[in-house]
Amino acid sequence: MAWITKDSAGARIEHRDEPYLTPEMADRLRNEILPRYETTMGALLPALHEIQHTYGWIPLQAMQEIAALLEIEPSHVIDTVSFYEEYWSHPKGEHVVAVCRSIACEFCGQCEITQACKDRLGIDVGETTDDGKFTLIELECLGSCGTAPAALIDETLHENLRPEQVAGLIDEAERKGRH
Ligand code: FES
Repeated sequence: MAWITKDSAGARIEHRDEPYLTPEMADRLRNEILPRYETTMGALLPALHEIQHTYGWIPLQAMQEIAALLEIEPSHVIDTVSFYEEYWSHPKGEHVVAVCRSIACEFCGQCEITQACKDRLGIDVGETTDDGKFTLIELECLGSCGTAPAALIDETLHENLRPEQVAGLIDEAERKGRH
């Protein structure tokens, strides 16, 4: 096994003119969130939630803006974003199909579920369809081991899944429209 390092220090950061952290968001963080914590670091997770909830993901520029507001190192922000699976550092599709890949689901046919998702969507794990509608990911245990295999489509948990159900469930999510 070999470690593959990323050239984070040399990475180019795209900047847009207007900040992601709007003055209203910054005010709310300063006046409502920050006073609840002993250190500014305590407000990091709520600040990241705010950005992700608003934009659907957390651009590098937004991470820099949060670091400046909280007076912490940008590296702390990016470390936090990359640690938690729930934070997105790149845009995702309108719908997210997340198949559990932990051990109970793996034993109960997760590979076939993932394959059925790939077949229906025409993408690999970690990719988004060209029309921006679906992103396919795998997650660790969804807390539904007794009814494995399990997957989340947006916020709906599907248990005891069979590969032949997958296409229909994805069609249903598409019919419901933007999540
Ligand atoms: S291992 Fe899949 S839900 Fe727990």
